[in-house]
Amino acid sequence: MSTNKLIIFDTTMRDGEQSPGASMTKVEKLRIARQLERMRVDVIEAGFPASSNGDFEAVRAVAGVIRDSTVCGLCRANDKDIQRGIDALKGAKGPWRIHTFIATSALHMEKKLRMTPEQVLEQAKLSVRYAKNACPDVEFSPEDGSRSDPDFLCRVLEAAIDEGATTINIPDTVGYAVPDQFGEMILNLRKKIPNSDKAVWSVHCHNDLGMAVANSLAAVRIGGARQIECTVNGLGERAGNTSLEEVVMAVRTRKDFFKLDTRIDTTQIVPASRLVSQITGFVVQPNKAVVGANAFAHASGIHQDGVLKARETYEIMTAEDVGWSANKIVLGKLSGRTAFKQRLKELGIELDHEDAYNKAFQRFKDLADKKAEIFDEDLQALVSQEAGVSSDEYWSLVSMSQGSGTDDRPHAAVVLNENGTQKKSESKGDGPVDATFKAIESVAKSGAELLLYSVNAVTQGTESQGEVTVRLAKGGRIVNGVGADTDIIVASAKAYISALNKLASKVERLNPQHQL
Ligand code: KIV
Ligand code: ZN
Repeated sequence: MSTNKLIIFDTTMRDGEQSPGASMTKVEKLRIARQLERMRVDVIEAGFPASSNGDFEAVRAVAGVIRDSTVCGLCRANDKDIQRGIDALKGAKGPWRIHTFIATSALHMEKKLRMTPEQVLEQAKLSVRYAKNACPDVEFSPEDGSRSDPDFLCRVLEAAIDEGATTINIPDTVGYAVPDQFGEMILNLRKKIPNSDKAVWSVHCHNDLGMAVANSLAAVRIGGARQIECTVNGLGERAGNTSLEEVVMAVRTRKDFFKLDTRIDTTQIVPASRLVSQITGFVVQPNKAVVGANAFAHASGIHQDGVLKARETYEIMTAEDVGWSANKIVLGKLSGRTAFKQRLKELGIELDHEDAYNKAFQRFKDLADKKAEIFDEDLQALVSQEAGVSSDEYWSLVSMSQGSGTDDRPHAAVVLNENGTQKKSESKGDGPVDATFKAIESVAKSGAELLLYSVNAVTQGTESQGEVTVRLAKGGRIVNGVGADTDIIVASAKAYISALNKLASKVERLNPQHQL
């Protein structure tokens, strides 16, 4: 494989969705898919069609609108799963791919699959054959590949290529690999397998030891892999997957070393990061490379002075290159509906129907009453909330008030709408947020366990909206609710209610992890 092109395969909506509470609805997947297409990702893994009807419909919907990226669905190596994948994808507007996998490590084959190596080999062949009959673009992954016996792996992969697999993807499923060894492993597989040149070689690394990006890049540099599977913000199972923004910017910034190109429009990276974070409720850490709030902030005087004299002294890429726009006032109180819609369009945000625009515009007006300057980030947070709210939400916040002080036990009063009926409640708590959650709970009686509460400022300054994430668990389900407001207690209430709605929702949100 001597091409200079590195294929970027995004699995935010499949492996990323396997993070606790990160499950997405069809509408959310469509928004992310459009942003990934805008970013010019080569392959979008939209989900795991056999895992649920909801995910089947989501993959079908994504395939129905995306033209410029290949849309892919993950399927276990059996005819039933693969047929579900084919059914979800066959009406695609653009190119599509079936990705099938089966575990090949001794541990997984014996303990999880309870299959012999010969059975696994046979199953791999049959599955690729089945997929190939319907789809020319077939990817095969030996799950737990990095811990599999190399000779057995060679047999399975050679057979998969013989059956027509066009991409061979080696997963480091548990994040066990180290860079040099992993790079050499890929190189050796490519050398030993006689038909290896008939497939594109790919890697899929997890970040359990913090080496997913390093392992992926070593596989490219040493092993000759030409596809990297990755996720926006490194979202994914446990410690996550290879981070898209880091591999893309590493290859671009160090083109002298990697000598590879991607077709990614890097200015879409930060908008994609924000969108994924707002939809999933997974906040990006401030010091995260490329997309963290501090990634381009120079705090020390020496650095600031250097950057002012010559940017290159302390910066290897520009903030603009990856889509950081200086906080620009874009709209204000007097802006009309047309200007609002136009700005959303410029930000690449499309809402599904006029009613959603009307509601978002109303929210914008409410926000403009409280906040003189509205930035792009405010609009994105506002629209994310709008898109996350469906018209048949079970709970909504009608009004609330709260009080606290040095001599006052914090207390809160809420009025909620429960499916059309207003209900009131008051409560005291350890702090205003605690009192508010207790007041909501005394009406909702969800019994859910609060797993995480976090607050993030949407823009700079004390006038900024606070964006709150609340993670709740109940009956084995984990959901994240997100709420934004200039008042962080109100944002907290909104986030709690959004999480309650997700728990109550009949819209299928499925965590495909349980199926693997
Ligand atoms: O981590 C893994 O092994 C996977 C495969 C299904 C590709 O996600
Ligand atoms: Zn994975």
